[in-house]
Amino acid sequence: MADKESLGNLAKHKKEWEEKILNKVLDKGHERYEEFLTGSDIEVERLYTELDIQELDYLRDLGFPGDYPYTRGIYPTMYRGRLWTMRQYAGFGTAEESNKRYKFLLSQGQTGLSVAFDLPTQMGYDSDHPLSRGEVGKVGVAIDSLKDMEILFEGIPLDKVSTSMTINAPAAILLAMYISLGEKQGIAPDKLSGTIQNDILKEYVARGTYIFPPEPSMRLITNIFEFCSIHMPKWNTISISGYHIREAGATAIQEVAFTLSDGIAYVEAALKAGLSIDDFAPRLSFFFNAHNDLFEEVAKFRAARRLWAKIMKQRFKAQNPKSMMLRFHTQTAGSALTAQQPDNNIVRVAIQALASVLGGTQSLHTNSRDEALALPAEDSVRIALRTQQIIAYESGVTETIDPLAGSYYIEYLTNTIEQKAQEYIEKIDKLGGAPKAIEKGFMQQEIQNSAYDYQMAIESGRKIVVGVNKFQVEEEPVKGLLRVNPAVGKLQEARIDELKASRDNLAVEATLKELTDCAKTEKNLMPVIIKCVKAYCTLGEICNILRDVFGEYKASMNI
Ligand code: 3HC
Repeated sequence: MADKESLGNLAKHKKEWEEKILNKVLDKGHERYEEFLTGSDIEVERLYTELDIQELDYLRDLGFPGDYPYTRGIYPTMYRGRLWTMRQYAGFGTAEESNKRYKFLLSQGQTGLSVAFDLPTQMGYDSDHPLSRGEVGKVGVAIDSLKDMEILFEGIPLDKVSTSMTINAPAAILLAMYISLGEKQGIAPDKLSGTIQNDILKEYVARGTYIFPPEPSMRLITNIFEFCSIHMPKWNTISISGYHIREAGATAIQEVAFTLSDGIAYVEAALKAGLSIDDFAPRLSFFFNAHNDLFEEVAKFRAARRLWAKIMKQRFKAQNPKSMMLRFHTQTAGSALTAQQPDNNIVRVAIQALASVLGGTQSLHTNSRDEALALPAEDSVRIALRTQQIIAYESGVTETIDPLAGSYYIEYLTNTIEQKAQEYIEKIDKLGGAPKAIEKGFMQQEIQNSAYDYQMAIESGRKIVVGVNKFQVEEEPVKGLLRVNPAVGKLQEARIDELKASRDNLAVEATLKELTDCAKTEKNLMPVIIKCVKAYCTLGEICNILRDVFGEYKASMNI
């Protein structure tokens, strides 16, 4: 950056500007607010100049795309080489209904798949379990066995598309189903590309779809790391998620800090399990939120990339450059959608999607305008996808790499977010790392405090939500909302009965027995779980075996 003399000269001129020009205006009338804050309460100065980033060193702090510390992006050509994957999170009702939606989205130009499972599947219950009543197929697709997965991907060649699966506690079982399905299509595991969310820590903090206590959960997670490092070189073994942490009320700084702290915990668990850093780290991936404050969100992604690169290189001594690259998916902020004037959400999502692209995302889901009210209708999800395509093909922002770099404000925010996130990580380290910090309720309390402040700002009118606390209108009920078939529960129950009547129940019994024995050892569980799904054991049967051996997590338990 500029030398001391020119900075001194700039400071002098800025002072003259304030005295001669600015103060005259301020004397006549105040600005709109006493103080201006980002979405995460970082104070925003009236004007940024080189004085605010005078420590910035291009080669040390920014570097070049595809090179350490990756601030400007992880690929040397970024979107000039390949656009981000347009990957809409989708799934509801039966496997047939979801298969139809996937084919619709692919026909409209989406370039990756993303499976939303219903709550019973995420919690390890079959559709015929009493606790599943009313939830089957509601927030995602009902998957009870390999049979449902065969229907879900009917007519979709798994070697031609990458698939994300948002599944955590039973992740190993859904991965085993996907592998088995691939083999049925004649595709070997090493040809399958995609991601399994597999991030249990954020479930304890923010999302809630956990089953087992932390230790066996971490074992299942690192079993997936080990299995995929040998058999599935193209598979991303975890999607370390900040999205839900942000949705729970965290600030951008907390989102980066808590997500990377979870990442550190997974790396430490894998090393403790005997894996070597460069064998598994290249296939770790991340998942962030894209919220309303455009510049803060762009800076957040750049800060997270730089911080993770430093953590992997300096703290974990990774050698492989791919171990230092923070590759991430983004979903626009569900919590920013309003039920009021739903068309306004198209504009919000466009701004949030733009922030994701300017921040260098590898994969993107854009929310639909009606998602504060229901699962997205077909025309709504098409507009959401078209939003990505307009940014990609009409806005010009993909033509050059990291176009906002060098902006005084963006670089100031990138530095500030990195530094404050690093302070949080040091606090979490002192608490014994993310699992201990979660056990102590540290992250949860920090998130609750931020959520409270944000809500108070809206209630007081300091934060405007258009259509909600300003510019309201009288509205008719929204028409054309998607309704999940109410009979889906009964349909799935009948399908389970049919499966159990037609399968080889001796093989089921034998593989479940083998699973029980294996779960009691320290062995990798993936091979025997694959045998179970191939014998058409149901998800619930497999989870019940693991519940018997591992027990279940209760929120009051230690992490
Ligand atoms: N030059 C050269 N190569 C390039 C390139 C470029 N410019 N851009 C991309 N590529 C290559 C990559 O190297 C990669 O090849 P490889 O696999 O051999 O390395 C290939 O092209 C694909 O590129 P990416 O890996 O960048 O893109 P993907 O889309 O395949 O993967 C990801 C992105 C973030 C790494 C991956 O983990 C992913 O897809 N994650 C998605 C997670 C997701 O969808 N989650 C949804 C959660 S929904 C939820 O939880 C919310 C709910 O609860 C409400």
